Amino acid sequence: MTDSELDAAHVWHPFTQAATAPPPMVAARAEGATIFGADGREYLDLVSSWWVNLHGHANPVIAAAIAEQARTLEQVIFADFTHAPAARLAARVCGHLPGDLDRVFYSDDGSTAVEVALKMARQYWSNCGEDRSVFVAFDGGYHGDTVGAMSAGHSSGFFGAWESMLFPVEVVPFPATWDGDDGVADRERQALLALEDVFARHPGKVAAVIVEPLVQGAAGMRMCRPEFLRALAARIAEAGSLLILDEVMTGFGRTGAIFACVKAGIVPDLVCLSKGLTGGFLPLSMTVAREFIHQAFLGTDIARAFLHGHSYTANPLGCAAGLASLDLLEAPECGARIGDIEAIHRQRLAGLAARHAQLSRPRVTGTIAAFDLPGDGYASAIGPTLKKRFLERGLLIRPLGNVVYLMPPYCIDHMALHRAWDIIDGELSRL
Ligand SMILES: Cc1ncc(COP(=O)(O)O)c(C=O)c1O
Repeated sequence: MTDSELDAAHVWHPFTQAATAPPPMVAARAEGATIFGADGREYLDLVSSWWVNLHGHANPVIAAAIAEQARTLEQVIFADFTHAPAARLAARVCGHLPGDLDRVFYSDDGSTAVEVALKMARQYWSNCGEDRSVFVAFDGGYHGDTVGAMSAGHSSGFFGAWESMLFPVEVVPFPATWDGDDGVADRERQALLALEDVFARHPGKVAAVIVEPLVQGAAGMRMCRPEFLRALAARIAEAGSLLILDEVMTGFGRTGAIFACVKAGIVPDLVCLSKGLTGGFLPLSMTVAREFIHQAFLGTDIARAFLHGHSYTANPLGCAAGLASLDLLEAPECGARIGDIEAIHRQRLAGLAARHAQLSRPRVTGTIAAFDLPGDGYASAIGPTLKKRFLERGLLIRPLGNVVYLMPPYCIDHMALHRAWDIIDGELSRL
């Protein structure tokens, strides 16, 4: 049997209606920003393989670090042991985070990083003797597919089948903005008023507010202003509640700064990191807490501890990949490449917006560029149509319904990125 036939017989793919989807392409290898199909075709990865890849596929520096670590210590139980890659990666990441975000709890992926943050926030309050159990999330926010993360992200509309399994979460509007938007200040005011209403309805009961800072990913690359995040953080601190930033997608350079919280100039109480943490090589995540949160879990009673963990917590291979990826990210050339991508996005998107009347809400934050086409959100037929046409032209672009976006690996060649914009331009003319 061929690999395709074996796959068709035995594999269940994520986010896929197998009855109608075309068979998956078989990736034979990948290098830089290009995925090479087993059939000889090539695809430019403009979604960084679900937003994880930073420095290109099969990056030799990261691959070598993983190989070296695999020969040294591949895995060890993280309850009784620590190891150099975990300790060093935690210290390096904390060094980039603002304020006293100094305590790293490792888990496996973005969803579990969020799950950990929600559980930590809840237990923090009970350890402090306060009964705060209300969580607040933003409209359209997506935080992952485990039950807590789905609860926080239920307004994203992806979780209808599991509605009865989710716990209630208060939802406030997300003040999305775009180039040339003159209504943003009013939407920001409305969002803060809605939050005020939640605080008023649940006095002393709000455990935490969770938000994807600067860019809501799955909601359609909806972007907000740093000013809004500053006002939000100030109001949450004033109310004595906790702020959780889900930087699973925005972390590690995506927004132009190493973290969105750095760009916005805020210090959250908990921050969730994954995806780019290993440069896109291995699943690994972190929930980073401010020191006062960690202190609330200390004591002589085991019940005060955070009794949560996963078999592969702080896997040494993932941590070694993380250290190598940080080396690459910290190099000045990488910052320059991120700046170049943003400049190309801005220039090309402005040109497209001037030429194509059906394009609306052009927006860029760091390496992420997006625009809307006419349509009714995630279910829009235009998404699959465009995806198919882009694939035929050798571009891996996966519109989120009627939202087209680019989020390339930082290593992408300028010519290749311009070619992608040329092809998008051509396809918009064909619509
Ligand atoms: C902001 C955000 N949070 C959490 C997640 C969940 O991450 P994972 O798919 O690694 O569980 C995602 C995934 O896309 C995400 O974009």
